[in-house]
Parts: sequence; C-alpha cells; structure tokens
Amino acid sequence: MFKSFWFERAAHPDQMEKLLTGKCSREVLFGILVSFCLCFALLCLHNSTSLGFSNWVNILGNSHVHHIFDSCSGRYIYVYDDLPSKFNYDLLRNCKSLTSGSTSDSGDEKNMCPYLVNMGLGPEIESSKGVLANKSWFTTNPYLLEVIFHNRMKQYECLTNISTLASAIYVPYYTGLDASLHLWDTNLTVRDSSGKDLVKWLSGKPEWKTMWGRDHFMVTGRTSWDFRRTNDNAEWPWGSGLRFLPESKNMSMLSVEGSLWKNDFAIPYPTNFHPAKDIEIIQWQNRMRYLERPYLFSFIGAPRPGLEKSIRGELIDQCRASSTCKFVNCGADGINCNNPITVMKVFQSSVYCLQPPGDSHTRRSAFDSMLAGCIPVFFHPGSAYNQYLWHLPKNHSRYSVFIPAKNVTDLKEVSIEKLLLGISKEKQLAMRKKVIKLIPKLVYADPRSRLGTEDAFDFAVMGILERVENVRQLIREGKDPSIGFADEDSLKYTFPETLE
Ligand SMILES: *[C@@H]1O[C@H](CO)[C@@H](O)[C@H](O)[C@H]1NC(C)=O
Ligand SMILES: *[C@@H]1O[C@H](CO)[C@@H](O)[C@H](O)[C@H]1NC(C)=O
Ligand SMILES: *[C@@H]1O[C@H](CO)[C@@H](O)[C@H](O)[C@H]1NC(C)=O
Ligand SMILES: *[C@@H]1O[C@H](CO)[C@@H](O)[C@H](O)[C@H]1NC(C)=O
Ligand SMILES: *[C@@H]1O[C@H](CO)[C@@H](O)[C@H](O)[C@H]1NC(C)=O
Ligand SMILES: *[C@@H]1O[C@H](CO)[C@@H](O)[C@H](O)[C@H]1NC(C)=O
Repeated sequence: MFKSFWFERAAHPDQMEKLLTGKCSREVLFGILVSFCLCFALLCLHNSTSLGFSNWVNILGNSHVHHIFDSCSGRYIYVYDDLPSKFNYDLLRNCKSLTSGSTSDSGDEKNMCPYLVNMGLGPEIESSKGVLANKSWFTTNPYLLEVIFHNRMKQYECLTNISTLASAIYVPYYTGLDASLHLWDTNLTVRDSSGKDLVKWLSGKPEWKTMWGRDHFMVTGRTSWDFRRTNDNAEWPWGSGLRFLPESKNMSMLSVEGSLWKNDFAIPYPTNFHPAKDIEIIQWQNRMRYLERPYLFSFIGAPRPGLEKSIRGELIDQCRASSTCKFVNCGADGINCNNPITVMKVFQSSVYCLQPPGDSHTRRSAFDSMLAGCIPVFFHPGSAYNQYLWHLPKNHSRYSVFIPAKNVTDLKEVSIEKLLLGISKEKQLAMRKKVIKLIPKLVYADPRSRLGTEDAFDFAVMGILERVENVRQLIREGKDPSIGFADEDSLKYTFPETLE
C-alpha cells in the first residue's frame, strides 16, 4: 500500500548502517583519496584546527587495522559556514519582526525573541507540577526547528571542512523564518526574492557543481507547502516559489510536513522535551510505561468550522458524548494549549489520542502524544504514515490506530469509542510499548550536549545520507539522477484502496 518510490527506498536503520559502513570499492577509492588529501592537509596544517587534525590522525592511526577504517566514512557532512548572514544569523538578530504564530496579523504573535534562548529550544520550564521531568523541558516554538537543527549540526561528529570528502552538504538557511517575513505580502516578487538570492549564491559555489545540488539539503520548521506556490493566479496564492526554482529542484528539503514532491522529506516536529543526558530519556520512558491512564481516548484541539470537510467537529461531538473521552478545547473560547503541562497531563492520562488533520495533514500534537506514551489515532495516511519514513515504523499498526476518514460522512458510521474498545488489551499494550520505545527517535536532544542515544536529528541525517548515496549510485551506474528526483508523487496523499 501507499506504493511510492521513496517508500521502497526508505531504508531500515539496519540497512542504513550497512550502507554507511559497507561498500568495499568505495572504501578503497576513499583510501586513495584520503592518502592524497592527507599530504595536502599536512601541508596546510596551519589552517586546520585540532579537531580537524585529530580526524586525520584517526584515519592514519587506524589504517593498519582494517584497510582504512574511518567511522565517519560515508557520513561526512559539509556545512556552508560562509553562507551570508542575511540567510540565518541576521534573521535571529531581527527576531522582533518574526512571527511566532501561524498568522501574520496578530500583534502578540510577532516577536520570536523570547524563544531563541537556549540555542533555539526556548525558555526552560521551571515548574513542571509533577507532569514533566524536572529538567530538559522547554517552551519550544516549532518554527525554530531550523535553528535547533543547525545547532545540533554544529555538534555532529562527522563534520568536515573539506567539501570533496563530504557525503552531503547542509545549507544552514533559516528557510521558514526568512519566508515568514514576506509570506503574507501580496507582491509575489517580494515573497520570492530572498529564495532567489539564496539559490544564486549556492549555484555560484564550487561545491554546487560536484552534483549540481543533489547532495545539498536544507531544513525548515514550516511545512513544505509554504515553499510550493503552484498557482500565482489564485485568489489568495499561498507560499513562496522557492522549491520550484530550478536550483531548488535539485536539492532536498527536510521539513515538519512533506509536500507531494519527492525531494521533500518529513522529520518530526520538535516537542518540548530536549534531553541533555541519555538517562533523562530512559527515566522518562520508564515513567510513561507505568502511568495510570483513566481516559480511553482524548482530543486536544480546536474545531475547524470554516473547513467544510473537516472531521474535527464530528470527533468533538463523539468525544463529548463519551464518558471515557477527554476533550480539551483550544479554540477561541477554550484554553491555551501552548502550555505543555496542560497538554502532556491529558496525553499522559489517555490510552489513545485522536490526531485528525488540522490546517494541514500533520500536527505537532502527534509527537506530543507519542512522547506521553499515548497511542496516536490517525485518520489520514498523510498525517504520519506517508510522512515520517525515517522515524516511524513502516508497519503503522504496530504503533497506531488508523481510522480512515476522507470526510465527515465516512466517520458518521463509525463509533470511535466502540472501535477503540474493540482493540484487545494485549494489542493495546503492544502498541504502547512500541510507542514508548520510539520516544528517543522522536525527540531532538539538547544541542549543547552530545548523547549516546540516536535522536530525531541523527535519524534525519542518516536518512539524507542514504538519499544522497542512492543518487550517487545512479550516477555511478550511468543513469540520469534527475529522473524522479523532484517528481510529483500523486499517491502520497491518496487513500489506500483496501484498509486493514
Ligand atoms: C572548519 O574550519 C573552521 C574555521 O577554520 C573551524 O572553526 C572548524 O572547527 C573546522 N571544522 C572542522 C570539522 O574541522
Ligand atoms: C522534581 O522536583 C520535585 C520538587 O523539587 C521533587 O519532589 C521531585 O522528586 C523531582 N522529581 C524528579 C523525577 O527528580
Ligand atoms: C512588487 O515589488 C517589486 C520589487 O519591490 C516591484 O518592482 C513591483 O513593482 C511590485 N509589484 C507590484 C504589483 O506592486
Ligand atoms: C540540476 O541538475 C542537472 C543535472 O542532473 C543539471 O544539468 C542542471 O544544470 C542543474 N540545475 C541547476 C540550476 O544547477
Ligand atoms: C504489522 O504489524 C501487526 C501488528 O504487530 C501485525 O499483526 C502484522 O502482521 C504486520 N504486518 C506486516 C505486513 O508485517
Ligand atoms: C464522502 O466521501 C464518500 C466516499 O468515500 C462520498 O461518497 C461522499 O459523497 C463524501 N461526502 C461528502 C459530504 O463529501
């Protein structure tokens, strides 16, 4: 089901490991390259930092063990540290004019500055009222994923300053923050201008020509749709045209929600938990395992009366009518759902958490619920299954419940309460166990520390490295890497014919 090119290619972590450490012929080639570069590097030693040098010594020192074994082989990433600051750091300096909410007009949503502290994690939550852990919880603004990712990248163990050695090239552009300055501008030329400047700068770099950008990637905390304006003549054309620029089509983008195109990849929304130590994750998982969960299911969200096809209204009605459901209204007449204590407390008390689409298919809430050990209930394959291929298990029934609902009519015949009650206790426990096991993979660790646990960042990096490696393989086979690279995947948001 959901057959798509990337679905088949999305590697299992085990496969990925093989891919990253295997490939004999590449290693030999790499060895030759390394020997050559080593001489060069020794000549330019005065330019190298001690970190850079110790990498080289490592390679040299280990060379008698395996032919040449470098644990970073196939994992090196080159970062454009020379990217003009108007594409990243200047935006942070200008944080007062960045919107922190999803609309431009509300005055109190303008000002991103308070969220920038702690390397983009936001202010630490002081009093967790016994709901959160005492440490490592922050008031995180999800749009700052691009800043958090950049800061995590600075800690990545396999950075290189030698671009020819790199398997992938990271563009530390704060794509969404930049876009947010002009997303609501009616003048489309203005909306598109900085994206155009960016690709102009990139395509002028020597690194570009190696693979014409196919090893380049950028990251955003917004959905990919915000950079995929398809119809300039619509009454309210949405988004910038960044991802349809010729250079941009050659690149990959990681975002919290992928679009229809195959060079967009989804990675988890940031939650409020950013562990600084491995033990913090284990303690959290242990606590989530043994919580009492008095509610069978819950829904935290706002109705979408304006959206005709929205199933939220029906879910809210069913929840209100059920004695085992907890509804938290985040609408204008409801409470402030940006408070993680409120949200996590409900998710921690629920067995199942309803995650219907909102303005777009995905929700940050899905990650909050899994973090609380609450089994997510999805209604659309685009809400998770076709999105987070690098982070969530391929077999969605292992960790979630799927109630397909294209529209309200589909849902009218379903009693969610009955359906959930019908799931055996055994199956329920197995799913919760899986959800809790997934937690480390779904959180972004504190960029100020380095964990042994692989987090959402690490899996995103593995995913992009594999993606670029696949492209390289095509080139080695003499194939045209542009075929399929940025194609539209019309199946991504369609419902499967048959449902389990
Ligand atoms: C790359 O070069 C910069 C500036 O010379 C230096 O600060 C940084 O540590 C180097 N990084 C690596 C991985 O060698
Ligand atoms: C968190 O802090 C409170 C109050 O200081 C303390 O009672 C509690 O034991 C702490 N919890 C953990 C998990 O350390
Ligand atoms: C849009 O902005 C550009 C650049 O500032 C300007 O040249 C152009 O006249 C504007 N177009 C409209 C329709 O206002
Ligand atoms: C995109 O990649 C193709 C090769 O696959 C190359 O011919 C083309 O020039 C690249 N486009 C840009 C704008 O660099
Ligand atoms: C998916 O997982 C479920 C539950 O663990 C299992 O019953 C089913 O056989 C799996 N399906 C596939 C295709 O592996
Ligand atoms: C809902 O979808 C079904 C097909 O699944 C269709 O028959 C029905 O007309 C749709 N209802 C509405 C209100 O769009």
